[in-house]
Amino acid sequence: MSKPATIAIDGFAGSGKSTAAARLAEALDYLYFDTGVMYRAVTWAILEQGIDPGDAEQVSRVAEALTIDVVANGPDDGRQFTVLADGQDVTWAIREPAVEANVSLVSSYPRVRIVLTDQQRRIAAAGPVVMAGRDVGTVVLPQADLKIFLVASAEERAHRRCKQLKEQHKPIDYDRILTAIIERDKKDRENPVSPTIPAEDAVILNTDNLNVDEVVGELQTLVKQLRSGLKVA
Ligand code: DC
Repeated sequence: MSKPATIAIDGFAGSGKSTAAARLAEALDYLYFDTGVMYRAVTWAILEQGIDPGDAEQVSRVAEALTIDVVANGPDDGRQFTVLADGQDVTWAIREPAVEANVSLVSSYPRVRIVLTDQQRRIAAAGPVVMAGRDVGTVVLPQADLKIFLVASAEERAHRRCKQLKEQHKPIDYDRILTAIIERDKKDRENPVSPTIPAEDAVILNTDNLNVDEVVGELQTLVKQLRSGLKVA
């Protein structure tokens, strides 16, 4: 294989997949696409419209009607990219606790998954891409050239989250963060429609003792191995 055109990077919340995927895409000069922002944008939209997150029918209708765009330009305020929901900048709003608390439920609805998966496949068909998410290797792009599943212990991810909050001068409660991570993992793992699990042919990379540079280095090694014809999983 000359170059892997589609690279799927999946993993649980806080596994470092978004940062690592963005850095790998930059190094390869590929498009980086984070599928999680789409589920977050739908969740933001239903909350904004006062729709009950438990109402699968209404939530699905919103997902089917919503236009989500992810664009490179935007204010220089630390964002990786700009997320637009029906033209409105929701880049930071989709990271708010209310979205965080409801996104697992919203992403468990089959119609929501169908419409977003379809859009993600169209994005991947447009050119070489590093796509990050939960089910990219298993459902969205099962034919991806390279599939990686990042893992890290819940404790390590809670420490990383605390570090981020400290840098943002926000209050830190390690125990509460750890409990939230464990609960969310459970919901995502047990999601009956599209559970967060590695594809059979995914490379599983444990990032507990690796910093971001080391993770990106490991990913680049896998890409090189694939280019030189070595089997990587
Ligand atoms: O990766 P993230 O934390 O931004 O994902 C937000 C939520 O969206 C998470 O609860 C799982 C869901 N999600 C999903 O079900 N499928 C994806 N491909 C990406 C995210």
